[in-house]
Amino acid sequence: MVGYAFMGAAHSQAWRTVNRAFDLPLRVRMAAVCGRDEAKVSEAADKLGWDGYVTDWRELIARDDIDVIDVCTPGDSHAEITIAALAAGKHVMCEKPLANSVAEARAMVDAAAAARESGIRTLCGFNYRRVPAAALMRQMIAAGRLGVIRHVRAVYLQDWITDPQFPLVWRLQQERAGSGALGDIGAHIIDLTQYVTGQRITGVSGLTETFIKERPIPSEMSGLAASANGDGQAVGQVTVDDAAVFTARLSGGAIATYEASRFAMGRKNGLRVEINGSLGSLVFDLERLNELEFYDATKPAAEQGFNRILVTEPEHPYLSAWWPPGHIIGYEHSFTHQMRDFVQAVAEGLDPHPSFEEALGVQLVLEAVQQSAASGSAWTQVAQPAIPVAA
Ligand SMILES: NC(=O)c1ccc[n+]([C@@H]2O[C@H](COP(=O)([O-])OP(=O)(O)OC[C@H]3O[C@@H](n4cnc5c(N)ncnc54)[C@H](O)[C@@H]3O)[C@@H](O)[C@H]2O)c1
Repeated sequence: MVGYAFMGAAHSQAWRTVNRAFDLPLRVRMAAVCGRDEAKVSEAADKLGWDGYVTDWRELIARDDIDVIDVCTPGDSHAEITIAALAAGKHVMCEKPLANSVAEARAMVDAAAAARESGIRTLCGFNYRRVPAAALMRQMIAAGRLGVIRHVRAVYLQDWITDPQFPLVWRLQQERAGSGALGDIGAHIIDLTQYVTGQRITGVSGLTETFIKERPIPSEMSGLAASANGDGQAVGQVTVDDAAVFTARLSGGAIATYEASRFAMGRKNGLRVEINGSLGSLVFDLERLNELEFYDATKPAAEQGFNRILVTEPEHPYLSAWWPPGHIIGYEHSFTHQMRDFVQAVAEGLDPHPSFEEALGVQLVLEAVQQSAASGSAWTQVAQPAIPVAA
């Protein structure tokens, strides 16, 4: 695994638990973690349960005893690490968004397609697909329970940078992160809604805004181009969006609204998706991730109303591995489920999802939203990736 901070910790927990929760044909060995600071990565290896550590990701790729590379770094290194790992015959799990640009994402898709010829598997980490209630939403829509989809309404809202003194961290720099709220959290709802509906976004009209344009430079990033503000504080330019909203059309005829913001005061990690169809509606809210709200319009009028499905039954996706009905699970389980599906796919010689092609599809939507926003919200068609049929 490369990177050991937020996602590094979440992925480590999942790698640690996956063989304990699920019966799998392969056993995971957590061989080594990579970080650039030796003291910190050695401490992280110990804390997170890795057998060893290295300070250059190329050392991981050169090792014969390592089969999988898990990329948990910011977007500016996804393409380089992933393409090198695939060329060396390693299976790759790469965090979302796949890359910082469509060009990089395309290069990763090409590398994955070439590696697939030799049985090498790839997955991009859109983990919310693997929250059981979200997976159930997809199953119910695929089974026709909502009929024809009319509306998709998706928001992903946070508030962690509302303070203008919050520093210019990597997520606020275009060259490191690609984009701001759009690519970081908007990417999740783009992927999730395309996944649950089975439809693709075909066109968008977008608006982006950067509310706070300069921020203090953190001391560990003193290499950034800085100027001084009125208080003599070293500040740098915020080069990504703080918030993005867009409307969209989906391939099955639905119209959609999306909102991604880091300025939604009071919303900490508020991901909510509502789908309205001709036969009913479904609502998923990450803050109540063990539940799915279902409005079934085929019931007699006197019995209609939103029902709460408690998604903890062994019949529900992934849940037979966990606790008795009603014993809820959490955020971290989505990552364990991701590792489970990845390991299973590697063992069976199948392609896990989301493929890099699907993740390129998300990247193409991000690019279209940015292009639209830069041209007065003009309607912008979304180029479509060629999605291969899984083996
Ligand atoms: N799936 C999700 O829900 C989710 C949530 C948060 C972040 N992410 C994604 O995960 C990735 C990492 O985000 P994060 O929140 O963990 O960031 P973070 O800042 O918490 O951690 C990044 C880690 O990468 C390391 N790193 C950076 N460049 C490196 C290099 N060249 N070699 C070795 N290590 C390097 C840093 O030292 C740090 O350990 C991003 O792509 C982000 O979009 C996904």
